[in-house]
Amino acid sequence: MPPRPTVVVTRRLPEAVERKLVDRFDARLNRDDAPLTAAQLADAVRTADALLPTVTDRVTADVLGAEPRRVRIVSNFGVGYNNIDVEAARRLGVVVTNTPDVLTDDTADIAVALMLMAARRLGEGERQVRAGEWTGWRPTHLLGTKLSGKTLGIIGLGRIGRAVARRAHHGFGMRVLYYDPPVPPAVAAEVGAEPADSLEAVLVESDVVSLHCPATPETRHLMNAERLRLMKRGALLVNTARGDVVDEAALATALADGVIAGAGLDVFEREPAVSDALRRMENVVLLPHLGSATVETRVAMGERALDNLIAFFDGREPRDRVA
Ligand code: DGY
Repeated sequence: MPPRPTVVVTRRLPEAVERKLVDRFDARLNRDDAPLTAAQLADAVRTADALLPTVTDRVTADVLGAEPRRVRIVSNFGVGYNNIDVEAARRLGVVVTNTPDVLTDDTADIAVALMLMAARRLGEGERQVRAGEWTGWRPTHLLGTKLSGKTLGIIGLGRIGRAVARRAHHGFGMRVLYYDPPVPPAVAAEVGAEPADSLEAVLVESDVVSLHCPATPETRHLMNAERLRLMKRGALLVNTARGDVVDEAALATALADGVIAGAGLDVFEREPAVSDALRRMENVVLLPHLGSATVETRVAMGERALDNLIAFFDGREPRDRVA
């Protein structure tokens, strides 16, 4: 029997997934779950046939360029793959795959949760109860804003953007505007979204703006001080995409100055660091990158990453090849 391909798995995965990986491959699991250093990732590139990283592992050109290179595929555990230098992978002939589809609903749920939390001041309320500071019901206590009937602006109407649009339009009766030129209006209409002429038009008209674009050099700091100023004063910004789509310092200033009313963030520019300025603000909801964090979805993501590896080593085209 030919030797089984060696796969380096950078973090703990749900047990069921780790078991399947061990059954099928010579899998080197990360039992203590400590993030790998760049040197350890480069070592994996030299000594393993495959790498199974997660969205926090920086698989840079330097890591991929480690010599002599043995790795032939990087099967990312995550739909976003901005952690991987895909250009370098292409150049070096290393295949890259991701795990789309399976986390769409969970991530859309978190975006909606953040909208509700920010609009209805739920974090503030919970902190008050836990601190024993709640003095009882009164008509003017912790008044938020209503979402029903308001306008939601979606930047990036891919799978997750569409799932958010569907929930907001059909669940909350929101008008949904989007900016994403490649998406045909007919496709958007299926989820109740209407096209806007520009990103700026979405920002000007929306009560809530939710970001669903990938992190690319073009989308870095897409939400900068200037664009934040275009939003309504009472508007909320929700980010479940990637931290660097928002200029976090500019956002903190905009929130402090009342340029916008609040924000709900699941992702940050320098995870796991979150600025003191944001942590001090009551009008910001902060979550630790929980978009896909359900048992069902993390198992499904692992199985998808595994299926991509199996297809590759069986000589088939992996379903989720991105490079
Ligand atoms: C992804 O998959 O890109 C998420 O950010 C992690 O759930």
